[in-house]
Amino acid sequence: MSLQKLVIDNFRNLEHVRLEPALHLNLVTGANASGKTSLLEAIHYLAMARSFRTNKPSSIIRYGATSLQVVATVHRETTDTTTHIGIERQRSGDLTLRVGGQDARSRAEIIEWLPIQIIAAGVPALLEGGPNERRRFNDWGVFHVEHRFMETWRHYRKALQQRNRALREGLSEQLITAWDDELLRYGKQLIQMKSDYIQSLLPFAEPYLATEAHDFGPIEIEFRPGHPRGQELEEALTQSLNWDREHGYTHYGPHRSDLVIKSDSKPAVEILSRGQQKHLNSALKLAQVHHLRVTTGKHCIVLLDDITAELDQAHTASLLQDLLQLQTQLFVTSLDESIMDHVPRDVDRRLFHVEHGRFEAVI
Ligand SMILES: Nc1ncnc2c1ncn2[C@@H]1O[C@H](COP(=O)(O)OP(=O)(O)O)[C@@H](O)[C@H]1O
Ligand SMILES: [Mg+2]
Repeated sequence: MSLQKLVIDNFRNLEHVRLEPALHLNLVTGANASGKTSLLEAIHYLAMARSFRTNKPSSIIRYGATSLQVVATVHRETTDTTTHIGIERQRSGDLTLRVGGQDARSRAEIIEWLPIQIIAAGVPALLEGGPNERRRFNDWGVFHVEHRFMETWRHYRKALQQRNRALREGLSEQLITAWDDELLRYGKQLIQMKSDYIQSLLPFAEPYLATEAHDFGPIEIEFRPGHPRGQELEEALTQSLNWDREHGYTHYGPHRSDLVIKSDSKPAVEILSRGQQKHLNSALKLAQVHHLRVTTGKHCIVLLDDITAELDQAHTASLLQDLLQLQTQLFVTSLDESIMDHVPRDVDRRLFHVEHGRFEAVI
């Protein structure tokens, strides 16, 4: 996928911005607080219907405005089709998602259109972030490559919500466990899909990990299904019934799945340097982009925020080259233009300069 046109209204300090991004590299430069990250945040908001900087949607609407809007013309390579995608958020909280001139049926419909990845200093990374971050990483991949995922997840979530409600309301054991069949059926399918995805992803990460600058031991990713090892999900559910009743929610299941990332058989977060951890983080995201490309033909949009602050020069250069080779559409922010020096001449590119929320295309 790629954005051919982008129109942003009242998103943070961006009052009204119109851009025609290049197919591959878009470099955004400007002083601190000019609006660079806000541009990436707006693109991410369009693609995911949530911000990567805040959980308070009202803070992303420009001060004094009553609503924000982000609209893009999106090209899909796999079918060579173009459509309009839009998101509008009111200060009152109302959210409208549009695809091809119609209201979207769900967030999933938009997310499916615009696979997006972000690598940024402020975004919690896979290693030191919490399980939520790793689950998101895992689910992102399954969502985009496994078409049954969303449907299965909806069934599972419904059963989980009903069971949790029965637990909270202190209903009888019979009324609580009435949901177990559904929970187990869909829960096991989810566990399988998530685990299969991680298995198939790892070989894609290896080439990106093997660089001279960073000497890793062998990297492994262990999938943790969200229940104790050596036990089946049904056993875990039965055994934790009392715990669940006490706490008012279901303790075990794929909604609690996690990944343990290891280097040389030890938890990577404990033994790798900060620099190595950042490298591992970006290598795993690159692997997802590549895996998606190979399994579905879909191209990702990749956002790199303040990348020279996040990675050293050599690694920034190799990351850019890898991403350009995968034909992603890149949006990169930086204080200066020096990143362009690392980019081959023939890459389709555009340089934007931003000042106080106003963008100017320089090349
Ligand atoms: N809701 C908002 N309305 C208007 N301006 C905002 C809002 N939220 C943040 N800002 C301002 O937007 C400016 C741009 O921020 P940011 O995009 O993070 O800058 P950069 O990444 O270029 O350093 C900052 O000055 C910030 O204070
Ligand atoms: Mg910034």
